[in-house]
Amino acid sequence: MARHMLSLLEYGPDEIMGILRLSRTLKELPGRGGPAPIKAGRTLMLIFEKPSTRTRVSLTVAASHLGMETIYASPQELQLGRGETVADTARTLSRYVDAIAARVHRHATVEELARHSSVPVINALSDLYHPLQALADALTIWEKTGKLRGATLAFVGDVGNNVARSLAVIGAKLGWEVRLIGPRELWPENLRVSLNAELASSGGSLVLSEDPMDVRGVDVIYTDVWVSMGQEAERERRVSLLKRYQVNARLMEAAGDPLFMHCLPANRGMEVTDDVIDGPRSIVWDQAENRLHTAKAVLVTLVA
Ligand code: CP
Ligand code: NVA
Repeated sequence: MARHMLSLLEYGPDEIMGILRLSRTLKELPGRGGPAPIKAGRTLMLIFEKPSTRTRVSLTVAASHLGMETIYASPQELQLGRGETVADTARTLSRYVDAIAARVHRHATVEELARHSSVPVINALSDLYHPLQALADALTIWEKTGKLRGATLAFVGDVGNNVARSLAVIGAKLGWEVRLIGPRELWPENLRVSLNAELASSGGSLVLSEDPMDVRGVDVIYTDVWVSMGQEAERERRVSLLKRYQVNARLMEAAGDPLFMHCLPANRGMEVTDDVIDGPRSIVWDQAENRLHTAKAVLVTLVA
């Protein structure tokens, strides 16, 4: 049975820390990643239902550094777009390629791919989770604060989205104190309960709050767009719910000048102001770079 990466819920803290340590090792190798730990002639298939800059390019470059080939296709370029089932697509592709990374609208699609694939399936973002992003974020936080475990992070804004949920998951595994701060209407359903066991064993905590001032004392303030891909029809309602959660100089000061993170792409002037994202506490470019190093570690872990 192939090992997949769909949400990180299926990985233990030691496995996650192993991937982060491997990311650092690969990052520190000279050249473009040193001797490839993956046998030549392996192929990664990328299927993207939505646009992507970082995920698509980091996976493609990571694969190339590791000596793997990649094939990219949108569903419209595959028979999927004409109604071939996800299951039949997975069964077929498994006979050709060594791993499949998929960016999908509905999380159920990537689960269905994994159910019928005999090669590893990697969630390259769904409506519920963005595990590759969370791994890069944890690596960045480890590098910048020295904390592989036990960091404190406030996610401010659309706390029900894929990025916030994945930060809550990895935080629960790594014993972080995670504060999800945003309007009650957007709080993630059942997330807290589903992470109870992880939180109990890691010593982490997850709190939900509607008060932007609950950012006080954190290592990191994190935000993401207010309107995720696929939610365009809800733009007006979301902007009006979220406008008091903008990350600006005032909020950074109230928090005690923490590091600032954003998965990108940013909608400047909405969830974050230019002075914060371009300011001295912003680590968004190192964070974006780490998508490459963690993508390599994931490919090595799942494919090698
Ligand atoms: N952060 C992230 O996943 O960016 P892309 O949508 O550009 O891949
Ligand atoms: N929450 C955003 C993340 C983009 C990387 C979205 O889903 O559009």
